Amino acid sequence: MIPPSLRRILETRIDILSVSPWLFWGKAGSGKTCAAVEIYKRWGGMRAFWDAQKTMSAFFEHEYTIRKTLEDADLIVLDDVAARSPTNPQLDALRMILEWRRGKPLLITSNLGPDALDTVLDDRCASRICAGWCHEFKDADRRLLGAIIT
Ligand SMILES: Nc1ncnc2c1ncn2[C@@H]1O[C@H](COP(=O)(O)OP(=O)(O)OP(=O)(O)O)[C@@H](O)[C@H]1O
Ligand SMILES: [Mg+2]
Repeated sequence: MIPPSLRRILETRIDILSVSPWLFWGKAGSGKTCAAVEIYKRWGGMRAFWDAQKTMSAFFEHEYTIRKTLEDADLIVLDDVAARSPTNPQLDALRMILEWRRGKPLLITSNLGPDALDTVLDDRCASRICAGWCHEFKDADRRLLGAIIT
């Protein structure tokens, strides 16, 4: 479920392995989450796959556990960032997540790219998210390929 173009980049661009975060962005159904799941499965060590909205909402209730995981995990995936407009506490939570995870493997998926993330998030979060590797998923909605239209 990793598109060939992405696979090629992961295999040949060794420099990418040392940057963080990775942002996979593109339209709905373009395959971002599936690719993130595949990378998550292949990554060694302790990993966490989080829905961004749920994590930001539950952040202050579970701050200690989340912080510990952010510090210890070998890979964190934050799926669907900026799917909805966050509240101010949720924005604070996201900024803290990005700070605590700075320099460590963090894979973020979003429907919004570097040009648009700051319209839903604030510029401080957007800047941190786009500071590593940004990869656009350009394929058309794959869900529609299996749709039955009569
Ligand atoms: N590389 C692939 N080859 C074929 N089908 C794929 C591939 N990647 C994903 N798909 C199919 O496309 C569907 C949508 O993929 P996915 O959920 O990863 O999209 P998404 O970009 O995360 O969408 P959204 O923005 O709505 O979250 C999946 O159900 C899967 O069956
Ligand atoms: Mg998705």
